[in-house]
Amino acid sequence: MTMEYKAILLKKRPTGDFTPDCFETTTLTTPQLSDGQFLVKQTHMSLDPAMRTWVQDNPDSYLPPVGIGEVMRAFGVGVVVESKNADFPVGSQVYGMTGWTEYCLGGEDMQLVPEGVSVEALMCCFNVPGLTAYAALKKTKPKAGETLVVTGASGSVGSIVGQIAKYQGLRVIGIGGPQEEKIKWMEEELGFDKAINYTSPTLKEEIDAALPDGANIFVELTGGPAQHYVFEKMARYGRIEVIGVMADYNKEVPALGPSWVQVNLKVLNIDGFIITDHYDEMQECFDYLAEMIKNGKLHYQSHYIEGLDSAFKGVHMLFTGQNLGKLIVKL
Ligand SMILES: NC(=O)c1ccc[n+]([C@@H]2O[C@H](COP(=O)([O-])OP(=O)(O)OC[C@H]3O[C@@H](n4cnc5c(N)ncnc54)[C@H](OP(=O)(O)O)[C@@H]3O)[C@@H](O)[C@H]2O)c1
Repeated sequence: MTMEYKAILLKKRPTGDFTPDCFETTTLTTPQLSDGQFLVKQTHMSLDPAMRTWVQDNPDSYLPPVGIGEVMRAFGVGVVVESKNADFPVGSQVYGMTGWTEYCLGGEDMQLVPEGVSVEALMCCFNVPGLTAYAALKKTKPKAGETLVVTGASGSVGSIVGQIAKYQGLRVIGIGGPQEEKIKWMEEELGFDKAINYTSPTLKEEIDAALPDGANIFVELTGGPAQHYVFEKMARYGRIEVIGVMADYNKEVPALGPSWVQVNLKVLNIDGFIITDHYDEMQECFDYLAEMIKNGKLHYQSHYIEGLDSAFKGVHMLFTGQNLGKLIVKL
């Protein structure tokens, strides 16, 4: 049986922030299934800052850009509603690359949602944010007693980086969202030793004061002014893990990075990170985070918006600090 459904296509590449005219809604028809295929009705769709990089025509990117006229790329969770694949029977809950769409064909990357894991925990912790945080932090070889700074600390990835670091006995300075409730959340619920507002007019002074002995580890998620101030405070043999540079995604020309002088004098190690290199650590990460949740040591929050069309303004929320937690579209 075929039916019509709504999907959102990329209409043009943004030059700055996403604007609604970058997308257009279309009506598609579900296909007749061949052997091995299954049809998924998406129930939850993740909105991520990385979407801004996925629409850039950049040959250096880790994924090919979404083509003009193609369904916009997204990670999501759904339910199998029709199936010619015994591994994915009707009614099973699956996750993977779905796209901005109500229905999609199950792809090779799709997996069953593990039993006992809620959709919220999967989207906030166990999948992209959790694996990114876990694998990136592991690369820095953290040691108890060291000081770690994480930017984007009130966001999905940064909040997990900071909590794993606390769990491992590090001192954690989180630089994150300007709202008072985000600062409170980082200090009171996540247990960070200090939370700093990235828009503060005294940002440099606050970073200096929080790092009397410098930072051993800097996990970078955003760029922006904090990048330079933290870089200047790196301790000797410090490690910098660059996961994202969100403040630069909407800029035509990215900001200049710090000087090599510090790298040389302080013997710093700067390392890039892309999640696609770490899928083989998924089970290990899952077990680790599940243990933290069981021990009450991993907190997360989600921010739901309703309906496929809400994605138009949802992606914009990511770059204007309007989301309080993992941004998820409920379909
Ligand atoms: N390399 C990889 O494989 C990989 C995988 C996943 C994510 N990432 C990257 O990790 C970063 C964070 O992703 P996420 O999913 O955690 O996003 P998120 O949940 O939207 O959180 C983003 C965080 O960054 C802050 N922020 C936003 N714009 C900023 C700016 N211009 N300057 C300073 N801080 C800013 C936000 O604070 P407010 O919201 O309060 O403004 C929030 O704390 C992004 O750069 C993303 O592309 C990379």
